[in-house]
Amino acid sequence: MTKNILVTGGAGAIGSSMVNRLSEDSGNRITVLDNLSSGHVENIVMRPNVRFIQGSVESAEDLRQAISESTDVVFHLAANFANQNSVDFPQRDLQVNGMGTLKILLRSVENKVKKFVYTSSSCVYGDRNEPLDEKCQEYSLDTPYAITKLLGERYVRFFNHHHGLNTVTLRYFNVFGPNEYPGKYRNVIANFLAKAMRNEDIIITGTGEETRDFNFVKDSVRATILAAETETASGKVINIASGRETKIKDLVQMILRITDSKSRVVHHERRNWDSVTRRVASVDLAKKILGYQPEIELETGLREYYEWLRKQNLNKCEW
Ligand SMILES: NC(=O)c1ccc[n+]([C@@H]2O[C@H](COP(=O)([O-])OP(=O)(O)OC[C@H]3O[C@@H](n4cnc5c(N)ncnc54)[C@H](O)[C@@H]3O)[C@@H](O)[C@H]2O)c1
Repeated sequence: MTKNILVTGGAGAIGSSMVNRLSEDSGNRITVLDNLSSGHVENIVMRPNVRFIQGSVESAEDLRQAISESTDVVFHLAANFANQNSVDFPQRDLQVNGMGTLKILLRSVENKVKKFVYTSSSCVYGDRNEPLDEKCQEYSLDTPYAITKLLGERYVRFFNHHHGLNTVTLRYFNVFGPNEYPGKYRNVIANFLAKAMRNEDIIITGTGEETRDFNFVKDSVRATILAAETETASGKVINIASGRETKIKDLVQMILRITDSKSRVVHHERRNWDSVTRRVASVDLAKKILGYQPEIELETGLREYYEWLRKQNLNKCEW
């Protein structure tokens, strides 16, 4: 049976990998809604079952085009990404991540969408530094982005409880891999790899002892699709991560080795909004509910990402 799927932010780093994976199944009809503010339409494989709408989740007219009564699943990935961007542009962050999320939830309820998948972030855990499971209450939210991703979670919960919308919220930890270009507001792996490829200084903001949980994009995408298909995930909040804790200094050494780079490692002060010294997820709930198992080792993922980056024209990226 044909399944009608909307992916918002489907030209983005993760969204385009979602779209490309979903469109491999000719039984899926995929609509992408993306305003291309940070996405790249060329990352989408334009198969016959893919329809692209250049538009915004903030626009009633664009949402009317994107969602109808035949829409089965909404994957809501569109967002103003991420922390530093939100510190620089807090109003834009609230408009997209707050109001945009509210508007798409309303439209989804009106059209009786069968499943709504919201992509949240580990940043809602604030400055907690121990291994994190979903029972942890958030502590201090350090950036507008952390605030609005949690706001989105709360709206999703309201629409689930009050309107009976079938929702699932996924808290992604750091995702990396093909289709993410380096840039001023992009993730650490994209930017470290690009610096290493140019033999430019790699700047660690902190001591390098800080840790993060890096998950390869294909694992994140697989988990996200599983979440949409799993009925028992309904109403739940689930970490999507690798469950692996990696020190930033070890990540850098791995990148230097893989790229055979002559970059120097330089330390700067930790950014004033960044108080997270330790970050690792518990993925027990994802394993239990979704049967999800992270499969791709950090080094394997880094090598695949490096091969992809080598084929891109990085001169077009804004640093
Ligand atoms: N990448 C990560 O490590 C990570 C971690 C935690 C959570 N997330 C979440 O996952 C989702 C995808 O992240 P990503 O890394 O692919 O980011 P991204 O910036 O590459 O993708 C976001 C996409 O949304 C689009 N967009 C922005 N504003 C829009 C609007 N008003 N209307 C329609 N489209 C709009 C952008 O053009 C872009 O294509 C986001 O919701 C993000 O908060 C990502």
